[in-house]
Amino acid sequence: MSDVPPGDPAELVASTRAAFRTAYGVEPLLVGHAPGRVNLIGEHTDYNGGLCLPVALPHRTYVAVAPRTDGRVQISSRQRPDELWSGVLADVTPEALTGWEAYAVGVLWAMGQEGLAVPGMDALVDSTVPLGAGLSSSAALECAVAMAALGILGEKPSGARRRQLASVCMRAETEVAGAPTGGMDQTVALMAEPGSALLIDFTAETTRSVALGADAPQVLVLDTGVSHALNDGGYAARRRDCEEAARRLGVPTLRSASEANLDGLDGLDGERLVRRARHVVTEIARVSDTVSAIEDGDWQRVGRLFGDSHVSLRDDFEVSCPELDLAVEAAVSAGALGARMTGGGFGGSAIALVAPAQREQVVSAVDAAFRDTGWTPPTTLLATPSGAADLDREVG
Ligand code: GLA
Repeated sequence: MSDVPPGDPAELVASTRAAFRTAYGVEPLLVGHAPGRVNLIGEHTDYNGGLCLPVALPHRTYVAVAPRTDGRVQISSRQRPDELWSGVLADVTPEALTGWEAYAVGVLWAMGQEGLAVPGMDALVDSTVPLGAGLSSSAALECAVAMAALGILGEKPSGARRRQLASVCMRAETEVAGAPTGGMDQTVALMAEPGSALLIDFTAETTRSVALGADAPQVLVLDTGVSHALNDGGYAARRRDCEEAARRLGVPTLRSASEANLDGLDGLDGERLVRRARHVVTEIARVSDTVSAIEDGDWQRVGRLFGDSHVSLRDDFEVSCPELDLAVEAAVSAGALGARMTGGGFGGSAIALVAPAQREQVVSAVDAAFRDTGWTPPTTLLATPSGAADLDREVG
């Protein structure tokens, strides 16, 4: 097993520019780029007004752009060489966009809805964020497109504008791509700082960087290769359960619920709603505990919290799958400090917290466990905490 490399950003900017020249015959104006993410802890808490603690990956999506004067958008991707999307921006409707362009062109549509009048443009996408691995390749694409489009307007966004862009990108995801996600992915892609995880509070609408420190263990990502889709029903069903639980408890979101009063959930589906709500309430507490443990340098405790989070997602929230469970068990048995599924679930990736000296051993044990079961071993990558979306040059 070898790690999926993030690539060198300067080289990727240059190769994206070169591919743009080949595709469109002119020099691009600029390149916008944005990271994928892994969530350390705080899963399915964002749409419950809760806390989460993601890190931006060094793996990024790059979008080279040049404005057009005729209102047309053309967009192609090195990951899908035979597909060029072309259309007039003013005529775009959410229903007309399907597939990957729902995210890319969807953002331009959503920017227009929010009063950010972007012109037509030619765009070329390249990415080192693995697709369909639960590492938010879609948010990376949305945020890179949004940055590039704003760059065309002569703006490199500041803090408040970045928050607005995150909600614009979420509109593309929910209203165009039809994935009713909660905002964690876009927020970290636009707000992360290198070397830190980002504590996001979805009720206070605040973010805080939590430095991981030079002695932090590594975060090893294990991509099970099991396909995961956030717009095929399971995610939306969990979200509905949480909203129903909050409604029956008489609270605005499950952020305001406590474990002690969950018994108040009755009705035929009460037992299921208790488990869903218990996951959310305990997971929010685990995020706060993890931040304290990181600040104390107590990585053993962080590892235990990862383990508790996984069990809660597996048993109470029911979003894990046998491949994720096996990756987690094998990693911990081989000496990881802790491991858990990450992201929306139903496939995708697990993360393992590993001391650098243990990494090879953990990777081989997971590899062997998968081979013994007759499954293809996970692909791996290192989640070195990286920075937020950016442009390749100054504008304005
Ligand atoms: C997906 C969604 C996020 C979040 C996670 C679960 O990644 O895009 O908004 O809900 O699942 O924590």
